[in-house]
Amino acid sequence: LHARLTVDPAHPVGPVSRRLFGAFVEHMGRSVYGGIYEPGHPAADEDGFRRDVIDLVREMGVTTVRYPGGNFVSGFRWEDGVGPRDERPVRLNLAWHSTETNEVGLHEFAAWLEKVGAELMLALNLGTRGTLEALDLLEYANVPSGTTLADQRIRNGRREPFDVRMWCLGNEMDGPWQLGQRSAEDYGKLAARTAKAMRQVDPDLELVACGSSGASMPTFGEWERTVLSHAYDDVDFISCHAYYEEEDGDLGSFLASAKDMDRFIETVTATADRVKAVRRSPKRINISFDEWNVWYLSRVPADLAKRIDDWPLAPPISEDPYTVADGVVVGSLLMSLIRHADRVTSASIAQLVNVIAPIAAEPQGPAWRKSTFFPFAVTSRLARGVALRVGVDGPTYDTAAHGEVPVVDAAATTDAGRAALFLVNRSQTDDVEVSIYVSALGTSTIEEALTLSDPDPHAANTADRQDRVGPRRNDSAALADGALRILLPPVSWSAVSLR
Ligand code: AHR
Repeated sequence: LHARLTVDPAHPVGPVSRRLFGAFVEHMGRSVYGGIYEPGHPAADEDGFRRDVIDLVREMGVTTVRYPGGNFVSGFRWEDGVGPRDERPVRLNLAWHSTETNEVGLHEFAAWLEKVGAELMLALNLGTRGTLEALDLLEYANVPSGTTLADQRIRNGRREPFDVRMWCLGNEMDGPWQLGQRSAEDYGKLAARTAKAMRQVDPDLELVACGSSGASMPTFGEWERTVLSHAYDDVDFISCHAYYEEEDGDLGSFLASAKDMDRFIETVTATADRVKAVRRSPKRINISFDEWNVWYLSRVPADLAKRIDDWPLAPPISEDPYTVADGVVVGSLLMSLIRHADRVTSASIAQLVNVIAPIAAEPQGPAWRKSTFFPFAVTSRLARGVALRVGVDGPTYDTAAHGEVPVVDAAATTDAGRAALFLVNRSQTDDVEVSIYVSALGTSTIEEALTLSDPDPHAANTADRQDRVGPRRNDSAALADGALRILLPPVSWSAVSLR
């Protein structure tokens, strides 16, 4: 098969925010306890954080981390996680039917983020708590000193404020599974009230209102419209959440998941702009795609311990193995985010360690990279500057889930004499020879060409074979007569960097 692509710096989409390469750490399963934090592990540092995990998070190029949930946050009292550790209460984690020891809270997580070099994006409990508790946490975190809460933070070991910029006003408040689920009307009013109150403390915060917890929710669209009709003037972002999995062996549909993400982003953008038009507002609401990934939700056992006498500590949940095909889809979801860089200015792969995660941390054992780690790490490293529109002229195929889709998917960025191209071949049988006219980019050398693929698209890394799959050099890439030519193997994700 052949495909011809065009890319032109005269057609920029918008700047690629570094916050697109965010992740998510929730108090869920072995994400925090037994994930980032395992005192007694040979690689643990003086604070109990695993150095091997920190190294991998840095290598992955994670810029922002959303914390502490997720569904967990809707039952969380932030005060439980601060102060002397031996006085912290042990609580039920109702979202994930487990025990929360509160050994890791705001101070510890912020310290971990400093080691990792990433920004904190803090989620508020607007499920079982309200505006006052949100204000208390904001005062504790961001006010320099001189109030009871600010001084309590200082006594708890943190002189400088945490200065948290991004705040999520609750989590998935439309979901029947959410503690304190609300109607769009109720939530929209609560989000607006809370945002206004928070801005009285700090007007420059960046605030995210909850969008739908997925595009398949019955209230999708109407939820966003109603919430924003109340909160438009008070918030900066509306959130999107999407998880994809290969269902019933339909690999063709799964490989085209980015088609769904494109449509999702464009629908939410249009809905936000509709509210903008009605209000005649000069302000633009952007998208925080703060949960996205491949997640084998259908494999989560329905009989997850639910007994009143059984609240396990950090039980393993959703430690998906992740295949090459999953890695290819993760790469293409990142391409969808880049294609919409003008409106998606923050995003978090959900999650980061062990739970729905690109990084595995074995108890008392090694930390290693799953297939999904690689496209994230490479894209975070190479996708700099401005996203460009890419024209694709090539073959298509039919899918049950998304209709007719292009075999080749693409995204591009350019930055100060450098350019990066991201390419996916969704064909399960054929190589695609791609030619891209790149002369307008002003680049003349291929710096790097990498491809993630495998004769078995369901191959995966394991604790015993940690490098079974991964990106390899693509030696077919060549530049001649202003065109880049590269051969994309079946079910593959590739990145090419030019200078
Ligand atoms: O990431 C796992 C869960 O997925 C989160 O807690 C929730 O927000 C979403 O439903």
